[in-house]
Amino acid sequence: MQLSLLDNTDPRLNAENRIKQLRIQLEYHNSRYYQLDAPEISDAEYDLLFRELTELEERYPDLVTAESPTQRVGDAPVSRFQPIVHRLPMLSLDNAFNGEEIRTKLDARVKKELGLADSSSVSYLCEPKMDGLAVELVYEKGNLVVASTRGDGVTGEDVTQNIRTLRGLPLRLTGEKVPERLEVRGEVYLSLDAFQKINSAREENGDPPFANPRNAAAGSLRQLDSRITAGRPLSLYCYAPGVVEGAAFSSQQDFLATVSGWGLPVNPLARLVESVEGAIDYYHEMQERRESLPYEIDGTVVKVDSFLLQRELGEKSRSPVWAIACKFPPRQAETQLEDILLSVGRTGVITPVAMLRPVEISGVTVSRATLHNWDELASKDIRIGDTVVVERAGDVIPAVVRVVVERRNGSERAVPPPAFCPECGSEVVRIADEVALRCMGISCPPQIRESLKHFASRGAMDIEGLGDKVVEQLLSLGLVHTVADLYSLTKEDFMRFERMGDKLSANLLAALKASKTCDLSRFIYALGIRHVGERTAKTLAQAFGSLDHLEKATVEELTSVRDIGATVAQSIFTFFNNPDNLTVIARLLELGVHPAAVAKTVGGRLSGKNFVFTGTLTRFSRDHARKLVEDQGGNVVGSISRKTDYVVAGEEAGSKLTKARELGITVLGEEEFLKFLKLLEAP
Ligand code: IVH
Repeated sequence: MQLSLLDNTDPRLNAENRIKQLRIQLEYHNSRYYQLDAPEISDAEYDLLFRELTELEERYPDLVTAESPTQRVGDAPVSRFQPIVHRLPMLSLDNAFNGEEIRTKLDARVKKELGLADSSSVSYLCEPKMDGLAVELVYEKGNLVVASTRGDGVTGEDVTQNIRTLRGLPLRLTGEKVPERLEVRGEVYLSLDAFQKINSAREENGDPPFANPRNAAAGSLRQLDSRITAGRPLSLYCYAPGVVEGAAFSSQQDFLATVSGWGLPVNPLARLVESVEGAIDYYHEMQERRESLPYEIDGTVVKVDSFLLQRELGEKSRSPVWAIACKFPPRQAETQLEDILLSVGRTGVITPVAMLRPVEISGVTVSRATLHNWDELASKDIRIGDTVVVERAGDVIPAVVRVVVERRNGSERAVPPPAFCPECGSEVVRIADEVALRCMGISCPPQIRESLKHFASRGAMDIEGLGDKVVEQLLSLGLVHTVADLYSLTKEDFMRFERMGDKLSANLLAALKASKTCDLSRFIYALGIRHVGERTAKTLAQAFGSLDHLEKATVEELTSVRDIGATVAQSIFTFFNNPDNLTVIARLLELGVHPAAVAKTVGGRLSGKNFVFTGTLTRFSRDHARKLVEDQGGNVVGSISRKTDYVVAGEEAGSKLTKARELGITVLGEEEFLKFLKLLEAP
């Protein structure tokens, strides 16, 4: 494309004209390159034009416009995305899972609703179903003004800055009869090529790779810093109109052709078919072509072509009656299972992971797959050395589907569930009603990082300054192995950190010191016992009054506490019966950590008095009884000790009653208990 140079004696006017020319040229070459895949100039020539424009704009900053191709490089980061309400909700599609279902779930329904004979034919527009994420673009007077994600369909997020970095998308519409307002929906996606490049770069940097192109596209689009998005070559295909003012489309085919004429990218594989048979054929054809496409598709979308009929059909339960998504079956491949690794997650869950002979499934090399849990491993009878069928379904991590038993030669080896944690050697426990195996060790390496962060967090010990970065450095310098080690750190230790001066380390030490005198409930929460959140920790602190009591509590005593069910009780019991955990707690106490229960209602008549309930209460619930006691400042605890003042015994009170008698504690029946409270209520 050639444009003549304008000659003018006024340099500013010259620049202005040249800028206009360059912008038109660059947009033209963008479209040749990204939309038509038919570049006319080399990358170097393109760069030259681009640089010339950048330099001119630097010289005349007031001539920079939002639509300039130079403005696709991203902007300063935003702190969060603003919500955008879609004028028309962005619907989702019903699914079909094979070609025949296009007939039964779409075509038959369409004909029924329209009162058409079964033998009649409806025209459909078929498109690949892009595996990316839906966005809405708003063009006003031809200029891209807003772009938003689908969100929940009603409200999305403003990702305008990020969408502007898409090279293949015009910031300004061209062509004839550009409407006043055009809302257009489409799918943002990442080509397989771009996906692989991004992942290799990530791996080189030590960043975890994206699981699939869709996640990579989503991660790139939802960047608060659009300069990062600019470095990720995202693409987009438009597939549906939103609110349009100043133009009308008669059909999906008309829509695609018209917006394409305005410069918007549409998928060239879209095809009009005369009847449902054509739509079924299209689905099968695309399934075959799927492997050779440069991007991921996960099915086809079949839409009634006529917009008149679409309007007549309308929508039901947030999906249009006039369209269906026909999904492809997940892709599978066979490979050898070379090993089974045990991976310990941050909550201590031990997951078996299949190490596979690398196999390519649709452009992605799979070398690991999850085996979920030991029940699954056993039920599928998966052994090391087996030939297995591996599946990549949509966005999930690859999974081992089944064993090809015919390929066994007898050398395969089953892997039994571990009795001890592969990372720390602690005992492995299977908690009732859960399939997961869990390492209960408090000093298990993968768990330490998270437990340190949790221990220091605001709701727990609230150690200011002990954030993620400090935790990372403590671990990498080998200074901390358990949460207890935090309290033996010295100023010299902190001074070894990057960017840690005198003042910061003094502050950290002060924060650590201050946390030593902490609330019992915070301390319990900080221990990170499974199922024990802030509220449960408070309940436990109130019920047991001291760490010592809690440590010694039996499952029965724990379950007798309000709001503590069997699962939680078992988890607490297991935690306090792990010798490693007890060692860490003992060290914490040794190093001066002093968790103390805070008295609740201070000055009530029962202040300082400890009550224990046992047996079945018939006159009132335990909750109610507890409230009566607490309202007057008393404590309800779970276990009997010398500190217990009263035991309230219901029917069939067992061992606790015996123990109370042994210790000479006052035992009250239900009736007596009520009288006792009333008595106390009287002045
Ligand atoms: S049309 C009301 N066409 O699939 C119809 N959607 O499950 C709106 N998608 O959220 C959707 N390719 O993200 C349509 N050619 C295509 C599509 C497509 C991918 C996605 C889109 C939508 C989801 C529906």
